[in-house]
Amino acid sequence: MKILKPTPESFQEAVTILQNRGIVAVPTETVYGLAADATHDEALKKIYKAKNRPATNPLIIHLPEDWKSLKKLEQMGWTDLKPIPKELYQQLDLLAQKFWPGPLSLILPKGEKASGIASAGLPTLAFRVPDHPVFQELLKGFSSPLAAPSANKANSISPTTAADVKSELENDVQLCLDGGACQVGVESTIVGVSLDRKGLQVFRYGGLSHQVLENFLQAKLQSPPQNKTLAPGMMKKHYAPKKGLTLLAPEANQGQIDELLSTPHIGLLIFKEGEVNQVDVQNQKSGAKVRTISDAWDGQFSCSKLYETLREMDSDTSLEKLYVWPKNIKEQSLWATLLDRLSRAAQS
Ligand code: TXA
Ligand code: MG
Repeated sequence: MKILKPTPESFQEAVTILQNRGIVAVPTETVYGLAADATHDEALKKIYKAKNRPATNPLIIHLPEDWKSLKKLEQMGWTDLKPIPKELYQQLDLLAQKFWPGPLSLILPKGEKASGIASAGLPTLAFRVPDHPVFQELLKGFSSPLAAPSANKANSISPTTAADVKSELENDVQLCLDGGACQVGVESTIVGVSLDRKGLQVFRYGGLSHQVLENFLQAKLQSPPQNKTLAPGMMKKHYAPKKGLTLLAPEANQGQIDELLSTPHIGLLIFKEGEVNQVDVQNQKSGAKVRTISDAWDGQFSCSKLYETLREMDSDTSLEKLYVWPKNIKEQSLWATLLDRLSRAAQS
């Protein structure tokens, strides 16, 4: 895999690959994506093959920044808004106007333009406008929407740098455009019409807090469905380090933590400095390595560093097992997203 800085030449190379029904890794503000022509079965099948992704897991369609209105999406043949109850359509359109470009994906009825491979055969399809100049420039050059899942092997940790993409897909992808580290660091929040069709529902917690969305709409959003068959692609196990990861209860007691601290070859991840007693850490002789994500309760910052930190701990050869202690995590604005990713990462 070649990693190229964005230049007119590298954009041209990427566009040519896409036009020839190939796949290219591209930065977004959330995580790196693996892009292909969203209208073309053959191109999309290459995404599933490279990622080892089950064909039942649908993709997100990435749109140019001047496609912020749902009407435009309908005019271009990508959705059909008729089946959406009017009031919910208005809410979805308000979300698009307000939060696109940004880390929000909206699930809409599928129009005839998109390949059925992208929607994994479902009657709905997820869309978003990525807030990244490199992705937007690529969309301009390609002149048509691009389907893009995260650029990692299925179930593994999503990449937030071009080097991460290389470590995941080195032999599966020809080119990665390098846009530096992703600012948001976790995937987009996914919202659509609820399964009971009475309101809107969060299908995946992500980089945009569901509370921010609720405040903006002045309406409650239903929580993600628990039943896997109702939420395609929401695998229980995901984002998982190769070493085992154990998620400790937020209310774990100090005795339990002290025992871990005295055990060698263990990595303990905590969110805020000071949550593990400094005296305990200093008293460790050959015990656990403690990693702190932040020195303040900053959900945005914690999300932006989460995957990077998990990857670092996963590749630290002195560590055999990883633990996370989400003590006081509800102090973080994006706690629902953090807990969601940690609990999937901790599934064996
Ligand atoms: O931030 C992001 O969303 C990143 C960047 C690259 O844009 N993309 C991403 O894609 O996270 P991916 O493929 O890793 O996750 C897409 C998820 C699917 O696993 C599924 O849970 C959900 O989106 N999804 C897609 N289409 C859906 C649909 N029609 N109904 C329900 N869920 C859907
Ligand atoms: Mg993914």
